[in-house]
Amino acid sequence: MTGVKILGVGKCVPEGRLTNDDLAKIVDTNDEWIVSRTGISSRRIAAGEPTFHLAAEASKQALERAGLKGEDIGLIIATSITPDYYTPSVACMVQREIGATGSMTIDVNCACSGFVYGFDMAKRYLQTDDSLKYVLVVSAEELSKITDYKDRSTCILFGDGAAAVVVERKEDTLYSSYLGADGNGAQFLMARNVLGKNPLGREETVIDEKMPEGNGPYLYQDGKEVYRFATRVLPMVTKECCQKAGIEPGDIDVIVPHQANFRIIETAAKNLKLPMDKFFLNLSEYGNTSSASIPIAFCEAIEKGKVKSGDKVCFVGFGAGLTYAGVIFEY
Ligand code: UT7
Repeated sequence: MTGVKILGVGKCVPEGRLTNDDLAKIVDTNDEWIVSRTGISSRRIAAGEPTFHLAAEASKQALERAGLKGEDIGLIIATSITPDYYTPSVACMVQREIGATGSMTIDVNCACSGFVYGFDMAKRYLQTDDSLKYVLVVSAEELSKITDYKDRSTCILFGDGAAAVVVERKEDTLYSSYLGADGNGAQFLMARNVLGKNPLGREETVIDEKMPEGNGPYLYQDGKEVYRFATRVLPMVTKECCQKAGIEPGDIDVIVPHQANFRIIETAAKNLKLPMDKFFLNLSEYGNTSSASIPIAFCEAIEKGKVKSGDKVCFVGFGAGLTYAGVIFEY
């Protein structure tokens, strides 16, 4: 199989910590409820720095660890649901910051599945374009921008952060992916753009019938529906990736899942008949950082020696859309 070799991984998370006790001062909640229902203890929250800044810092670290310079990168794939601008893209802002002038730049919005979609796109570009040597995939989110800190059912979940990987093509290596979406579940997890006001004074037709009125730009979530979806697709996607790769789930060395909720991952582990120590988790410290959660966790897993050269690694994500995505590769 043609796959990818990871040359460098980097991350950047804001300094500011928001603990469960901090949140208990803002909304009617407590540490015990949050930890027992989600596994989250604290999250990092940006203090004014833009999303693209986190993306650029994570990218610089990944480049340095890869022993490359910005100008070596031929394609930047950035993923975010919380960019600073409608336009230009996060990828263009990162390109400017790292000096990758002339590279292709693409932004991907697949919510929490974004990094896995971007990683698989990188592999496909590398496989079909011989002139392309190195691709940077960077995921950066500031969920604090679209979190309603009056809504206790969502504000306990989300945090900010970014991470990046630099990859090149690798022949004769393990690689499989399984990606998809179910737009019928779109209304279970949404955040609205500004309502359109055109010069003819026509009001935009609003289709988000489930979202409470006056929700503004904040994330709306039907937690139970998303929970049901997540516990179904996590094992399904992992099994599909294994089948395509010709391996069994037990052959995977490390699974890096989307860091949404400890209970979701525990349920998936049971379904897959795998021990929890196959899964790398850091959600206790960072909460759910949407598309950045898998690469932040992957970066930490490498730093802590939990992922070693030659390991079979599985990334598996799910999120708004509703989207799902998995890849298996050899590190
Ligand atoms: O990347 C995005 C993916 N999103 C997810 O993965 C989220 C998936 N869903 C979940 O993780 C869970 O549904 C939540 C953690 C969001 C909620 O957990 P739950 O076990 O489904 O709780 P619930 O919504 O059924 O609420 C149970 C009770 C309710 O009270 P009543 O109606 O039983 O009296 C809530 O009002 O807990 C209450 N509650 C809270 N209590 C204290 C809801 N949020 C809180 C809170 N603190 N923060």
